[in-house]
Amino acid sequence: MRRPVIAGNWKMYKTPSEAVVLAKGIVKALSSLNGPEVVVCPPFAALTAVGQVVAGSRIGLGAQNLHWAKEGAYTGEVSADMLRDIGCRYVIVGHSERRQYFGETDENVNKKSCAALATGLIPIVCVGETLAEREAGRADAVVEMQLKGALSGLSPEQVRRLIFAYEPVWAIGTGQTATPIQAEEMHAHIRKTIAMLVDAEIASGVRILYGGSVKPDNAKELLDRPEIDGALIGGASLQAESFAAIARAATK
Ligand code: PGA
Repeated sequence: MRRPVIAGNWKMYKTPSEAVVLAKGIVKALSSLNGPEVVVCPPFAALTAVGQVVAGSRIGLGAQNLHWAKEGAYTGEVSADMLRDIGCRYVIVGHSERRQYFGETDENVNKKSCAALATGLIPIVCVGETLAEREAGRADAVVEMQLKGALSGLSPEQVRRLIFAYEPVWAIGTGQTATPIQAEEMHAHIRKTIAMLVDAEIASGVRILYGGSVKPDNAKELLDRPEIDGALIGGASLQAESFAAIARAATK
């Protein structure tokens, strides 16, 4: 049994005081929810404040990025230990916006995932192809390469603790969702690739989330697919009601 994960990626939205209001709304809206593991990933500046709001609730705290070094002269960066210390349990790694705008490579994703795991954080490792790559028939190969890079040198036991997110770049923030069939096919491909690279039993147990324009009105048909173990949500996670509606749709 793979317990669904519903994670909100707030990106660079919400000041700490706005984030507290949103977090309170989410805690309230989901107070009686059973089932999915729910995670919110506010911007760094709001982590501490949101951590205080969700403490004691069933909502987990995640960051959107980290640096792989334990500490050091890396101006502007944040380490896994710092995230743990303020109560994070999760961290998004390799989001396509980081790949696209900040030069994140598969090698970085690998180093960041190792650093996160070493500190006890659960990395949410993102993969996904661009529209050009899909149109060229290269989507499977691109995602396979990203997984190979991300998992390089990781032990099966480390991979067991990862959460994966398939986020086709063309579906992020565009309102254009992958169809449940397209998502299901890629999730199956991701699982097969993990089985090939790591271990079949571990591949069958890891959660693979779908991300890219998930909204309350399309969440259920995606989340009902057996290969889709949850969602990573951007835009619709910025309002308590729409995020809560998606979380409720994950109660299979
Ligand atoms: P979106 O973002 O839901 O706004 O498409 C998803 C993501 O980037 O994680």
